[in-house]
Amino acid sequence: MSGQVERILITSDQIQRRIQEMAAEIERDYPEGPVYLVSVLKGAFVFVADLARAIKHPSVRIEFMAISTYGHQKTSSGQVKVTRDLDVNIEGHDVLIVEDIIDSGVTLSYLKRLLEQRKPKSLAIATLLDKPERRVQPVDVKYVGFRIPDEFVVGYGLDFAEDYRNLSDIRILGP
Ligand code: IMP
Ligand code: MG
Repeated sequence: MSGQVERILITSDQIQRRIQEMAAEIERDYPEGPVYLVSVLKGAFVFVADLARAIKHPSVRIEFMAISTYGHQKTSSGQVKVTRDLDVNIEGHDVLIVEDIIDSGVTLSYLKRLLEQRKPKSLAIATLLDKPERRVQPVDVKYVGFRIPDEFVVGYGLDFAEDYRNLSDIRILGP
């Protein structure tokens, strides 16, 4: 462990309540299904598990991709690489990219462009957290859980050097 100070920013109850609201919106917007939740590993694995279970219609498909940007730094290297691609064809399907956090927007604008080329019927983004002050590349995000200040956060899937992902709340990692 890094031994850094942590402070709770969003409690586990607040997260769960907000996810119920987001899921209700998603249900309204995709009443028929199937909707493909394309989640970005590793950070979004907890969020997608809770979001998927909060959506009450059965035709929710859960797919994973892995992308690397950060290495073990707190700031983006700006380099985006797909390290694990989808193993399904999304052509003609409703696709919702599920992310843990949008920071610079580099990762999601890259991913959106990549998936757009595969001709989904629709393509939108759901993120649990958004740090709008940090945006370098504009991204159109349809569902946002919480807008947060420019702080480095961990927990609920989010890591710092692979630690903290298992916490059920979101915490600010001290300086
Ligand atoms: P972006 O490309 O700068 O938008 O970065 C997005 C990715 O950076 C996210 O999917 C996270 O994996 C990581 N990231 C950005 N901010 C944080 C943070 O505060 N804590 C942990 N990971 C973060
Ligand atoms: Mg991520």
